[in-house]
Amino acid sequence: MKKIYSFIGSRSTNGHTEFLAKQILEKISEEQEVDWEINTFNDITIDPYGKVTEEDGLEILKNKILNCDILLLGCPVYMHGIPGELKNAIDRLSDWAHTMRFRGKKVILVSTCSGNGHTTAIDTLHSYVLKFGGTVAGKIVTADNIPDIYDRDDIIMSLNNQINLNITQMINDIAIELDKPFRTNNFLESSFQIYKANYSKYIKEGWKTEETDYWIQSGMINCQSFQEWVDKK
Ligand SMILES: Cc1cc2nc3c(=O)[nH]c(=O)nc-3n(C[C@H](O)[C@H](O)[C@H](O)COP(=O)(O)O)c2cc1C
Repeated sequence: MKKIYSFIGSRSTNGHTEFLAKQILEKISEEQEVDWEINTFNDITIDPYGKVTEEDGLEILKNKILNCDILLLGCPVYMHGIPGELKNAIDRLSDWAHTMRFRGKKVILVSTCSGNGHTTAIDTLHSYVLKFGGTVAGKIVTADNIPDIYDRDDIIMSLNNQINLNITQMINDIAIELDKPFRTNNFLESSFQIYKANYSKYIKEGWKTEETDYWIQSGMINCQSFQEWVDKK
């Protein structure tokens, strides 16, 4: 059974983004046999600049991401972008960009906002997924602000119906995408070749870091392409 791990970069209790993520996960599990789990910053706290407290959950988060088949990553929009707490957590995963640790993992992205900044937030998440060596299976954003001219029961009812139809269609498209085999792309292949060249050089020069260890011990350094690396999983 496929495992979907969902992390929502918010501290809201029963927040909008968590609600949207649950709708998506429930709909996908109606169509496919999946086992899902959802966490927010209320479950896992990440220290901003390296482990400084006992509560730091970075290792827990890393294991949950590495052990899932599909990741759902979501956040609210804060000040036209992703929340600072999520950016801090992503900064602490920076070394995963050099080792492309998502290794082709499919990622669903979700974001909610009042009415603006959703493109910036979702595109930022998209770029991190690619940097980490993942692929985006789909993105869903919602806004809850109703402009005054549309704030009438009949309009809201018809908008709700349309939104439900659109979201159902988007989730169906995502479910189809999740079933497809991994297909590489130019960004992933060129990143792989650049990092491989760099790490081959560092290894030759005798550097020993967690990253050089990973390139050697995982066998990634012997692959000719990112596609080959993912196919070996
Ligand atoms: C600090 C803060 C900044 C926000 N900035 C924006 C913003 O720039 N644009 C916007 O449309 N909504 C903004 N919002 C509204 C949230 O994005 C929106 O309510 C979101 O659905 C909350 O999601 P959550 O319940 O999952 O935390 C902001 C909310 C907060 C608390």
